[in-house]
Amino acid sequence: MATAHEIEHEAIPHGQQAPSCTMVIFGAAGDLTKRLLIPALYNLARTELLPADFALIGVDRLEMSDTAFRQHLDNAVRAFASDKHYSQALDESHWAELLKRISYLQGDFGDALAYGRLREKLAEVRKEQVSSDNVVFYLAVGARFFGGIVDHLGQAGLVTETQAGWRRVVVEKPFGHSVDSARALNAQLRRSLDERQIYRMDHFLGKETVQNIMLMRFANAIFEPLWNRDHIDHIQITVAETVGVESRAGFYEGTGAMRDMVPNHVFQLLALTAMEPPTSFAADAVRSEKTKVLNAVHRVNAASDSVRGQYTVGQRDGKLLRGYREEDGVAATSTTETYVAMKLGVDNWRWSGVPFYLRTGKAMAKRSSEIVIQFKRPPLSLFRDTATEALTPNALVLKLQPDEGAALMFGAKIPGPTISIGQVHMDFHYKDYFQNAPSTGYETLIYDCMIGDATLFQRADNVIAGWQIVQPILDYWANDPAAPLTQYAAGSEGSPEASVLLQSEGRSWKSLL
Ligand code: BG6
Repeated sequence: MATAHEIEHEAIPHGQQAPSCTMVIFGAAGDLTKRLLIPALYNLARTELLPADFALIGVDRLEMSDTAFRQHLDNAVRAFASDKHYSQALDESHWAELLKRISYLQGDFGDALAYGRLREKLAEVRKEQVSSDNVVFYLAVGARFFGGIVDHLGQAGLVTETQAGWRRVVVEKPFGHSVDSARALNAQLRRSLDERQIYRMDHFLGKETVQNIMLMRFANAIFEPLWNRDHIDHIQITVAETVGVESRAGFYEGTGAMRDMVPNHVFQLLALTAMEPPTSFAADAVRSEKTKVLNAVHRVNAASDSVRGQYTVGQRDGKLLRGYREEDGVAATSTTETYVAMKLGVDNWRWSGVPFYLRTGKAMAKRSSEIVIQFKRPPLSLFRDTATEALTPNALVLKLQPDEGAALMFGAKIPGPTISIGQVHMDFHYKDYFQNAPSTGYETLIYDCMIGDATLFQRADNVIAGWQIVQPILDYWANDPAAPLTQYAAGSEGSPEASVLLQSEGRSWKSLL
């Protein structure tokens, strides 16, 4: 059933308290709710950005009373209270106030009757707790449920907007499994929703330092003139994790590092680094530039430009680490990749001839997400025949996590009678300048959804552009028996074979250590 969505609800300016609304979380008993969504809502309440006029309805399959659900969340918040996501001590009054506004509804996501009950519950909450019909539906559930839930919401008339309220749906990742399934999911959502009602989540975009890539580039005059093929030799994007698969084998075995990290998180970093300046910071202006640059990525030669790997037994800091195939829930013959490296080129005026090397993996030597902008060597080697010949060229390193900041690497003379050059760093650390607000990254995104700013959410064309780049590689891995699955020791810097992507061009990965 197509719904008419002619009603435009104005976005609220940033920094103001979000407007009155109800949030419905599907998957309320799950891990995401307790670890990330509730802490984020608590942080928003504590900073007075959550509307005073707010209600939260948790929906899940388990039988649970309101009291039991509140107790479950209270336990979770207290268990994680010393976590960096919170301020030092729990702000009891804000938490108690938020807790009062939380209720629970038992319902099977596939049961049409549950949506009738949800309609009644929303009406009840509307009478007692909130003064508007604004509702955020948050799908914190497995990807297989996304389409069905939205169909049911549509059939129950729950996503039809009126003058009295907007209706928005937040969809978690992974958005599809391939180009075709992402297209099909988009089509399914669009049967009930207008594109502007859909908020496709990529939590990397909620990270301060990821947003800072745009600020670095477009709020400073010194970088942009150098940000092109005339000055840049290549770009490296790394998202390395130390965690292995942990308790997520059920999800990860069918997903793998490519689908889990690349078309979403890693490509967001690529798009923010490589996009043209948008005409404004309005959601569609930014999202159009991001899609444009992803569409300019030329077709990857899967066999020569990608490497997949799987971690085997290894060690970090003297501690023995299990191999992926020994992890709980992982098949002993699993061919799921836990590491991906690839080389991409962007066919546009700015980037022609500049390679982008990307890598991401689990169980690696160090947790480190960073973007290295490697500049060209000086045009003339003035210091020929000295120890300076081997000098590493200048690089700007944008450090996203865990040590947030940036570093500029350049050469300086080592004091002494001879001409020899050492590499030095000009380092900026966020923590030296700004007090870090406790944040899960979800605060920004939930708040932005409530105020109607979709800039940091993925538009449909953005998601499809990402899948289109990786699809030839996924197809090659799936269909060509000769496609190698390399190995790397857990705790190492990833598959040694990934060096080949750069070595043949006289380059190398920046060490993680
Ligand atoms: C998630 C992936 O989207 O991002 C995980 O599913 C990954 O596998 C996580 O560990 C990384 O996010 P962060 O915020 O911990 O860097």
